[in-house]
Amino acid sequence: MSAYQRVLSGVRPTGHIHLGNYLGAIRNWVKMAKNSKEQLFCIVDQHALTTAADSKNLSQNTRTIAAAYIACGIDPSESAIFAQSHVPAHTELSWYLNCFAPLGWLNRMTQFKDKAGKNKEGANLGLYAYPVLMAADILIYKATHVPVGEDQKQHVELARDLAGAFNNHANLKVFPLPEPIIEKNTARIMSLRDGLSKMSKSDLSDYSRIHLLDDPDIIALKIRKAKTDSDPIPGTIKELTDRPEASNLLGIYAALSDQSIETVCRNFEGQTFSSVKQELTDILISSLTPIREKMHYLLQNQDEIDKILYRGAKIANTLAEKNLREVREILGLIPRADQLGKL
Ligand code: AMP
Ligand code: TRP
Repeated sequence: MSAYQRVLSGVRPTGHIHLGNYLGAIRNWVKMAKNSKEQLFCIVDQHALTTAADSKNLSQNTRTIAAAYIACGIDPSESAIFAQSHVPAHTELSWYLNCFAPLGWLNRMTQFKDKAGKNKEGANLGLYAYPVLMAADILIYKATHVPVGEDQKQHVELARDLAGAFNNHANLKVFPLPEPIIEKNTARIMSLRDGLSKMSKSDLSDYSRIHLLDDPDIIALKIRKAKTDSDPIPGTIKELTDRPEASNLLGIYAALSDQSIETVCRNFEGQTFSSVKQELTDILISSLTPIREKMHYLLQNQDEIDKILYRGAKIANTLAEKNLREVREILGLIPRADQLGKL
């Protein structure tokens, strides 16, 4: 029996896909996909429009994320890989869910507060409604498990609340309550320049993150420049408490070498960061080289990526349209002509 019924997740095609996306999210998708009945991995191109729409690069960025999914080990013959905008049911369900989403719930969303910053009045409605579209991404497939990094936990919880609100209205268990799946050790990979802020696509400095497309010499340079402290590596995690940069680098090493941080601390105990950085560089290069090479191969064969996206969208549309019909009927909308008699 599969541990997970239906797994769904997504990444925004903005900026450079990075090590935090890989360790916090995509690597876990690959593990879960092996143990689930159905898996859908979306490139959320409509979400990308909520922050500084980059129309010139959006289609290329979308293909790059698709290439990253495949290169990281998502098998397109077993999982549906598709662009959000190719499945119009997401935005339709999102409207219906908007009508069940109290403003009070949305006002609590910390990502909106971070992204809107001080200029809340100037933020666009799409950014505000972002979590509802994300809930629709999940609920339109009746997904049960959503593997994400820590920063997305609140959004998945909102999706649960919206599922509950809709189920109450229908007096039926239409949607399962989706569960966020967060891998504790890699839930929050931090910036290489500041151990207190998250590694993020929107950080202005390329040196804050490792991109999945970085060449080995760039990786080596970024790790050489990564912020550390001057104390030697301690033998226990407890002694790492006030050393965010050290914890982050050792955490990345532990994740890539499939060891616990305890073991890594014990193995490096007493050494300085220069030797740890060398080993970290080596393991980053050996882990990321096959991914980078496969991404380059796919990006040179865009037809192949597009074929995968179209196939994924076909699977996704079939599932989504069926669930949308049910929702429309519950809401009392007149069935569309093409949906008559199909429920
Ligand atoms: P985004 O880059 O915001 O589209 O994020 C895509 C996925 O990667 C989401 O599941 C995020 O939670 C995850 N993620 C992004 N940045 C990090 C990070 N620094 N550490 C761990 N997970 C992350
Ligand atoms: N909001 C997510 C992020 O920024 C991306 C996302 C959109 C997503 N829809 C989703 C993740 C549905 C999981 C499930 O990372």
